[in-house]
Amino acid sequence: MRAARRMAALVASGAAVALLCAATPAPPAQPVPFSHRVHAGDARIGCTSCHVYAERGPVAGVPSMARCQGCHKFVKEDPAHPQLDAQLKAFAKVLEDGKPVEWVRVTRVPDHVFFTHERHVLAGVRCQECHGEVEKVDAVRAVAPLTMGWCLACHHRKQREKPEARAKLTECVTCHK
Ligand code: HEC
Ligand code: HEC
Ligand code: HEC
Ligand code: HEC
Ligand code: HEC
Repeated sequence: MRAARRMAALVASGAAVALLCAATPAPPAQPVPFSHRVHAGDARIGCTSCHVYAERGPVAGVPSMARCQGCHKFVKEDPAHPQLDAQLKAFAKVLEDGKPVEWVRVTRVPDHVFFTHERHVLAGVRCQECHGEVEKVDAVRAVAPLTMGWCLACHHRKQREKPEARAKLTECVTCHK
């Protein structure tokens, strides 16, 4: 009985993932190959050690080349993994050139919407709830629809946990200043 229910849940979540994949746009091409699976997954580097402002400001921030360099002066080659080795060597050239890399933005809300990372991260909302399981993919894509309905559905849910403290969570001015 329990196994059957677990099976049903698995099938349902599989269907949800399939739906999400079908509905989300492909990730944009980035100027430099960079894999979240390699960094956040295999190497287990924490999200906020690269996106350092996520806990303290509106914008999460993308690391500078200096930050990549700080680690990559020690991570230069990997002869055991030819695929990675080629990418590491190509990346070493990029660092040597010293030109700033303009990453293509993936997730964005319109200018008339106010969003801040800090409040969400401090309230314990995990990055993955809004961005998907980034540590399992090479290229990040926008998985959430980012519509007003999507924001509000969660705000209504979270409001029920603390009705008084979160009374304003569903008011227009919270997201439209
Ligand atoms: C804290 C250490 C650390 C930081 C910071 C870091 N890397 Fe890496 N990077 C690694 C490790 C570890 C590997 C995997 C090496 C291996 O397994 O051979 C890697 C692999 C890579 C590769 C080859 C695999 C891939 O992702 O395509 C590229 C390219 C790369 N890093 C680019 C970057 C860029 C760009 C930044 C900055 C945004 C960065 N790295 C920041 C540790 C780091
Ligand atoms: C080694 C540094 C590094 C680590 C660790 C890292 N990221 Fe990133 N992240 C980047 C870089 C560089 C970009 C810009 C290129 C790209 O989109 O892949 C980026 C882009 C993103 C984006 C897309 C931003 C946009 O334009 O919308 C999201 C979302 C994201 N990261 C979430 C995460 C999450 C969640 C984790 C932890 C599971 C994480 N990152 C770990 C370096 C990192
Ligand atoms: C409640 C949902 C939510 C959570 C939780 C969340 N994000 Fe975001 N993230 C967004 C939205 C919405 C945007 C687009 C914001 C904009 O356009 O101003 C975004 C944009 C980004 C960007 C690109 C622009 C920027 O702010 O630098 C990065 C990188 C990013 N998020 C990383 C993270 C990381 C890392 C975490 C966890 C520490 C995280 N996010 C948690 C919703 C979320
Ligand atoms: C997965 C759940 C979730 C999603 C999705 C989400 N939020 Fe939130 N939001 C929260 C929680 C939880 C808080 C923090 C409440 C607290 O601090 O008690 C919050 C707080 C906020 C705040 C600060 C509220 C204040 O009192 O000043 C703003 C602004 C906000 N969210 C905007 C947005 C926008 C815009 C979106 C959609 C792009 C969004 N949120 C999507 C859960 C979510
Ligand atoms: C939790 C955050 C949040 C709250 C609360 C919120 N909105 Fe929004 N609103 C958004 C986001 C995100 C968008 C942009 C995405 C979209 O158009 O769905 C948006 C878009 C809009 C738009 C533009 C639609 C368009 O077609 O361009 C209007 C108008 C609007 N909201 C009015 C309101 C009003 C009125 C309220 C109060 C009843 C409200 N919003 C409350 C997040 C919010």
